[in-house]
Order: sequence, then structure tokens, then C-alpha cells
Amino acid sequence: MPFNFENRVAIVTGAGGGIGEGYARALHAAGATVVIAELNERNGRNVASELGERALFVRTDVGDPTSTDALAATVMTEFGRIDHLVNNAAIFGDMQLASLTNVDYDYLNNFMNVNLMGSLHCVRSVMGPMGKGGGGSIVNQSSTAAWMAISGFYGLAKASLNFLTAALAHELAHRNIRINAIAPGPTDTAALNRQVPVEFRDPIVASLAIKRLGTPDDLAGPVLFLLSDDAKWMTGHIVAVDGGQITRI
Ligand SMILES: NC(=O)c1ccc[n+]([C@@H]2O[C@H](COP(=O)([O-])OP(=O)(O)OC[C@H]3O[C@@H](n4cnc5c(N)ncnc54)[C@H](O)[C@@H]3O)[C@@H](O)[C@H]2O)c1
Repeated sequence: MPFNFENRVAIVTGAGGGIGEGYARALHAAGATVVIAELNERNGRNVASELGERALFVRTDVGDPTSTDALAATVMTEFGRIDHLVNNAAIFGDMQLASLTNVDYDYLNNFMNVNLMGSLHCVRSVMGPMGKGGGGSIVNQSSTAAWMAISGFYGLAKASLNFLTAALAHELAHRNIRINAIAPGPTDTAALNRQVPVEFRDPIVASLAIKRLGTPDDLAGPVLFLLSDDAKWMTGHIVAVDGGQITRI
């Protein structure tokens, strides 16, 4: 086993399907106790019951700090510690197709509250117990869209999440908590397939250095690495895992 998460407790938000489910499965396979923090009750329960032992579903709305506080309290009652947090939840698959100049403000405010502030709510809810337990590590789920201005309010939320990751690295280090982000390229999930019509997928794949969509499995190793002690001197960074979609020199 390349990474050993035995006796560690990890929360993965939005783990009821897609990439978050992949993260939860990878952490579970590496020995962690995994908390599926998901708004979609049916999907969240399914993943937790398929994982079986060392898995718990906690219905969570990351856009509501009362809900994320309740999540942290439940995990502490059940398992007595929180070692890792993966902020993966986002409005994505059913996202409105609108631009910054015409998106409805109520929609935009809720979108930013979930896709950006949701990660901050979760961090603020877990940082106390995580710090008191000796520290831990966090991964935020960004996107290569953060570096593409064409991606509108989705990119705005992810670019801001990158800033949040860097800023929180400074605020959390004294608690012995590291925080980094993964920026996936286009990854084959049901949500991507709903969001990107089939005719747009071929040109996207053609633009990648490695000419295929990513899979949740492609992201599993990087998330385990960033959460693990092997990354002990890494914090505040955005790691692209994208088939070479965005190459910066
Ligand atoms: N699939 C891609 O190509 C891709 C690429 C880059 C980044 N991402 C990011 O990866 C993450 C997962 O994407 P995915 O493709 O698996 O999509 P997905 O829609 O399957 O995953 C998002 C999950 O978050 C949950 N969720 C939504 N709002 C929530 C809330 N308020 N509280 C708790 N849970 C909530 C959803 O129910 C869903 O299970 C997202 O952050 C997305 O922006 C995806």
C-alpha cells in the first residue's frame, strides 16, 4: 500500500458520486475511516453503505455553516478525531449556462456560497478539532477552469478558491494544518457529461497533451499524496492534474 491512512479520519464533501466518490474510495482503500458529507441523501447513503465498515454518511450542505458545524460535531462524537478534509462539493453538473453579465444574482450568490464559501465553512468547522488533535491536511477541489477566463462564474469561484487555498495555508500552519488544491482537467463523470455536450468533448480532448479525458482514478494518487505526510512541506499550492491541459513554464 503506497499510502497508509489507517487510524485516520477523512471527510470528503460531495462524495455521493463522481470525483468525490473516487476520493472517498481511494482513502477508504488506503485504510482511512471516511465520512461522506453530501447533500444528496440517496447518493451519499449508497456510497457509505457500499464502503461498509469505516464509512459514515452525514447529510451536509456545505453552503450552510450550521450544517458544516454539525458535520464536524457528528464526526467528533462518532470517531473522536478529524485528520483530513477534502473540499470537493460544488454545483457543477446542473450548473446554469449563463454568463457573468446576465446570470441571475440570486443564482450567482448561492453558487458562490456553495462553490467558494462552502470550502471556507468546512475549514472553519474542522480546524478546531483538527488542530487540537495535533494537526492534519486539507485538499480543495479547484479546476483548470480557474486559469481560463472564458469559464465565467464557474472559473471565478475556482480562481477565488485558489486564493483561499494560499491564504489559508498561512492562517492554518500554526495549527499544524496544511492545505493544498488539486486542479483537475476535464474528468469523465456523469456531471461533466451533463455539462459538456458530446460534440464539444472531442476538441477538448484534442487540446490535451495526453489525449483522453481524465478519470476519478487519475486523481486518486495525487489526493492521497497531498493529504499524506509525504507532502509534509507542501502547503498553499495548486496542483494541476489535467493530462497536460495547462502547461506553465
Ligand atoms: N468533472 C470534471 O471535469 C471536473 C473538472 C475540474 C474540477 N471539477 C470539480 O470536481 C468536483 C466534483 O465534480 P464531479 O464531476 O464529480 O461532479 P458531481 O456533480 O458529481 O460532484 C459534486 C457533488 O457535490 C454535491 N453537492 C452539491 N452541492 C452541495 C452542497 N451544497 N453540499 C454538499 N454537497 C453538495 C453533489 O450532490 C455532487 O455529489 C467539483 O468541485 C467540480 O467543480 C470537476
